[in-house]
Amino acid sequence: MHWSCDSHSVEQTRELGMRLAQCVQPGDVIGLDGDLGAGKTHFVQGLVEALGVDRDAVTSPTFTLIQEYPTRIPVCHFDAYRLRDSDEFLELGVDELLGGDVVCVIEWASRVADVLPRNRLQVNIVVTSESARQFSWTATGPRGEQLLSRLMTATQ
Ligand SMILES: Nc1ncnc2c1ncn2[C@@H]1O[C@H](COP(=O)(O)OP(=O)(O)O)[C@@H](O)[C@H]1O
Ligand SMILES: [Mg+2]
Repeated sequence: MHWSCDSHSVEQTRELGMRLAQCVQPGDVIGLDGDLGAGKTHFVQGLVEALGVDRDAVTSPTFTLIQEYPTRIPVCHFDAYRLRDSDEFLELGVDELLGGDVVCVIEWASRVADVLPRNRLQVNIVVTSESARQFSWTATGPRGEQLLSRLMTATQ
């Protein structure tokens, strides 16, 4: 299942994260890809803020690698940018988190795609101008598809 939409500002990108927050359930896995500066972290800020934690708590976990926020539904935020390979990702103990009781959001997901559950929502963000971004959403597996259908309904 596939969908795409545009964001014309940082606020709209956060808004997309907030909409997704209305739709997520524990166990959902969301992969994020897009160049540096595409807006992955701003999108996660919207998601986390809508789930009840100040968005200032959200930064790319480039060095910490995993951040967990005490949101209404706990959110685990990963950044695979600095990881050597998928094994290093697994060594962080992500197996217990992926598809567990938390929502997992992974920046640079394509770098560790081989160990992510197929059942997920993949978001690719493309920079289309200085302030515009194209969001492409691809859902695979029943959980991913449910999540994307809820999001499409919430966004109409
Ligand atoms: N429509 C937009 N959505 C998100 N970020 C935008 C947008 N337009 C401009 N920006 C800028 O792009 C950058 C996105 O940064 P960030 O979210 O940290 O990206 P990433 O985590 O993908 O590296 C910020 O400097 C932000 O101000
Ligand atoms: Mg980032």
